[in-house]
Amino acid sequence: MTTQLHVQIPATSANLGSGFDAVGIALAFYNDMYFTEEPDRQEIVITLEGLGQDSIPTCFDDNLVGQAMKAVAVKNRQFLPKGGTLRLVNRIPPSRGLGSSSAALIGGIILGNALTGSKMTKEDMLSLATVMEGHPDNVAPALYGGLAVSIMVDGRTMTNSIPIEEDLSFVTVSPQIEVSTEKARQALPKTIEYQSAVFNVSRVSFLISSLFTKQYDRLQYGLQDRLHVPYRIRLIPGGSDVLQAAVNAGALGATISGSGSTLIAFAAGQEDHIMHAMIHAFSAHGVEAEGHILKCSNEGARIIP
Ligand code: HSE
Repeated sequence: MTTQLHVQIPATSANLGSGFDAVGIALAFYNDMYFTEEPDRQEIVITLEGLGQDSIPTCFDDNLVGQAMKAVAVKNRQFLPKGGTLRLVNRIPPSRGLGSSSAALIGGIILGNALTGSKMTKEDMLSLATVMEGHPDNVAPALYGGLAVSIMVDGRTMTNSIPIEEDLSFVTVSPQIEVSTEKARQALPKTIEYQSAVFNVSRVSFLISSLFTKQYDRLQYGLQDRLHVPYRIRLIPGGSDVLQAAVNAGALGATISGSGSTLIAFAAGQEDHIMHAMIHAFSAHGVEAEGHILKCSNEGARIIP
């Protein structure tokens, strides 16, 4: 029987302001991957639909999904099928801070594992994805769903995934400007003041506890950050004005999504108004932007039967 697999992987928003490199949330906005084994072929051919057609390599060895599938096959000591088609349907915009590379890695790892004996546990898959990505805050929510808080222990990644209810929405607005994570990380200082570390510890604890206790009016404080947002917001034209516009329009708080360029606002009402205010603020700086109103994806990546 020919193997056919379909995996769906959510977009993610990392950091959530104060949770730099540790906290991320899965969003109900998905990439799909379909693998079909074709014994007559001598290679795995990639077809690409949707976003990233001009930037994402379609050669299996150069593609992130292909690289993740191969890494898993090595770990599982089993060969991938020799021939097949890997169809990638991309909705998550690349290099916009919505976890497109994590979605590629997690999708590839899940596919690769399913095709080579399913020997890896979910935690094994997370640890491999973290090594490949360099930090856990996108790959963890992409795999587990919910709001994921991750730590590294002896080279392994541990994550706690907390479900987020439907009363909270996430407004993402992506400008037509790419910011690579590499460039955004280069913008960070090498050291920070002790007081800034204390500030972030208190803010991220306050963020998670405000979510748990549903004190949504307090989220604005929990989202505050001194480790990365002040250094990165200047890479996004009009960024500070757009964050302010979101809050003025009724958002509970707003920050950079991952390393940008997308900005994300938390909301419990007024979502349309917030999205249009953010798009409008971008356009006042001559920047076109696209918005989405999303819920949290509490399930994470999964094989669709
Ligand atoms: N935590 C990472 C960063 C996420 O902000 O650099 C990158 O998507």
